[in-house]
Amino acid sequence: MPHYYVACTLGLEEVLATELRGIGAGNVTVRRGACAFVGEPALAYKACLWLRSAIRVQEELARGRVRDRDELYALTGTVDWSRSITHLQTLAIDGSVKDSFANDTRYPVLVVKDAICDQFRTVDDKRPDVARERPDLPIKLVLQGDEAILYRELGGEPLHKRGYREVQHKSPLNEATAAGLLLLTDWDRRSPVCDPMCGSATFLIEAAWLATDRAPGLGRSFAFEHWRDVDLAAWRTIYDEAEARAAAGAGACPPLCGNDRHPGAIALAQKAIAAAGLGGRIQLTHGDARDYAPPFPPQLVVTNPPYGERLQADPASLQDTWRALGQFLHERCPGASAYVLCGAPALTRHLGLRASQKFPVRNGPLDCRWLRYEIEAR
Ligand SMILES: C[S@@+](CC[C@H](N)C(=O)[O-])C[C@H]1O[C@@H](n2cnc3c(N)ncnc32)[C@H](O)[C@@H]1O
Repeated sequence: MPHYYVACTLGLEEVLATELRGIGAGNVTVRRGACAFVGEPALAYKACLWLRSAIRVQEELARGRVRDRDELYALTGTVDWSRSITHLQTLAIDGSVKDSFANDTRYPVLVVKDAICDQFRTVDDKRPDVARERPDLPIKLVLQGDEAILYRELGGEPLHKRGYREVQHKSPLNEATAAGLLLLTDWDRRSPVCDPMCGSATFLIEAAWLATDRAPGLGRSFAFEHWRDVDLAAWRTIYDEAEARAAAGAGACPPLCGNDRHPGAIALAQKAIAAAGLGGRIQLTHGDARDYAPPFPPQLVVTNPPYGERLQADPASLQDTWRALGQFLHERCPGASAYVLCGAPALTRHLGLRASQKFPVRNGPLDCRWLRYEIEAR
């Protein structure tokens, strides 16, 4: 059975492992920033469609000792590439290199490309083209020390690209990270959720999809659908079942509300909400969090305030933002659990709260904490 490697945000590995077991993977091992599992291809299709915290699903095609160009060429030649695509389709190779015979990825990637194209050429002198955009077969080469691994990537576009965000907020949260952070909370998927600094509303959209049992990959395409060895009957069954579950769950959306002081962010959020099929399900307002009165008492608050990375550089204004959040939590959220993503520990004291739990997680280039606060009931 094929071996698969599923990448996620650092810190969300256990969330991903739980998700994998939830879709039926029995053989899950946790790695740094990833999980590995062994299973039938149908399970990997399911992983692409259903895993909320996953960023990529890759199938291992070859692994071996590689100390020079010829050994890499030979290893690449052990894979039957015509199983995946014909010469009329396209491929792309991405590489990562550490302590290997090559100093950077360019040369080994070229070697792999030549080996694949030569294999096609020996059949009828025709070879697939390389395409940067949406290749039919995205290949990943990992060279570490004298070991090389070749993967084919099932998703194509990374899985966090759900398709509901056309234009990016200035400082968006990756959709898979947002979903994984929600899965780290103890939310029951029925209680009201609020994000007082919601930006493009990623948390709220992911919360809606989670609560309504909508698979995050519904409506988008995956590279594996173009492969020659795809089991289309199995894929159709998996997809149809996901559509049926989404239809059955559509009525189960809990009360969700958000706010942001930037009108442009609210406009982006409205667009994303509509594109996610959630028009009318999430109540948004525009204003400072300090003055925000949610339309219902939230039981879970999830938010990602600015901490100086991309949005606001001015320390006084950042501190004021965190004080505004603290004031909102104290005044408007009695009895709620609040989770706040923070990449600058010094700012948290402006909340005037003590965290009851801290989960380390990476947000882009920054080491962050997903901090849990219990807001006292009145
Ligand atoms: C890091 S972004 C949030 C990104 C969001 N999670 C997303 O997925 O798009 C922080 C947001 O906080 C908002 N913000 C900053 N200070 C605020 C305040 N005092 N009241 C309300 N919103 C505020 C900013 O406008 C920005 O959209």
